[in-house]
Amino acid sequence: MSTVRPRTVSGMRPTGPLHLGHYFGVLKNWVELQHTEEAYFFVADWHALTSDYADPSNIATNVEEMVKDWVAAGLDPEKCVIFRQSAVKEHAELSLLLSMITPVSWLERNPTYKEQQQQITNKDLGNAGFLCYPVLMAADILMYRPHGVPVGEDQLPHMELTREIARRFNYLYGGSFFPEPQAMLTPAAKCPGLDGRKMSKSYNNGIFLRDTMADIEPKVRGMFTDPARLRKSDPGNPDACNLFPYHVLLASPEEQAEIRTGCTAASFGCVECKKRFLKNLEAFLAPLQERRAALAARPGAVAEILDAGNERARAFASATLAEVRAKMGL
Ligand code: TRP
Repeated sequence: MSTVRPRTVSGMRPTGPLHLGHYFGVLKNWVELQHTEEAYFFVADWHALTSDYADPSNIATNVEEMVKDWVAAGLDPEKCVIFRQSAVKEHAELSLLLSMITPVSWLERNPTYKEQQQQITNKDLGNAGFLCYPVLMAADILMYRPHGVPVGEDQLPHMELTREIARRFNYLYGGSFFPEPQAMLTPAAKCPGLDGRKMSKSYNNGIFLRDTMADIEPKVRGMFTDPARLRKSDPGNPDACNLFPYHVLLASPEEQAEIRTGCTAASFGCVECKKRFLKNLEAFLAPLQERRAALAARPGAVAEILDAGNERARAFASATLAEVRAKMGL
């Protein structure tokens, strides 16, 4: 890894298996960035605890599965640093130090915080850890002094707070020690759930990266297409169809055009359309499943990846913290 590459960092909470929405929204971007950036990617297990503290029984498995999903998707531990947040204690120390300079009012007015406090009713999110979520996230990011952070749109309020904290640190302690990192969004990829709502594990409407074709076929068979197209002889409207966005993601431009014409001219039906989708999906998933199987065949492989990544992250993090401590009079 060359030192002249621009640096990026990003993380995901280990809350369950990754689906196509994660892949096309964020992960694909990560896989590309590992070739051009000095990239740090971590499993945000402390962040998972901020809301799931009452039942942490799934976290260990989810961490392991998430790393498998990442490698399956194409992240290569030789090309990027893959690590686990809670294994790099410097993140906790930097979070503590940044909490000294972060006004509580900034945290309370964070739109994500307010929204989740209101919407998530099955968990008590009145804990301090949840309020301080964005401070920990700012620590995760600023630790690596990156120019950019590949995340989904939902993370933009957190990115704004990260920049505000960086600015305040620089103002208080002089210089421009922390950069003000920008979100690196993937050009909008539309990947709705099987039922047209947002693809999400909790809606049970996802196609997961670890699904086999046997898991996927019944899901696709049950998918709704254009609700106005009742018979094969009715012309369909791809823009009102729940399946067509997947063709945009997986079919070649030529095939997309062919499907569009076939649908609007009623020259082929939804069953044919689903067959084409399954074929393309199978081709897309094959290399992912191959990489997953290769990893699963080596016991201890995930632990090895994390051990090596944790060490590299720690080396970078401890250098940042030495400077931060000095600047803050410690
Ligand atoms: N908030 C992110 C999520 O919900 C996870 C995360 C934690 C993160 N720390 C980060 C993302 C730092 C990018 C950078 O998935």
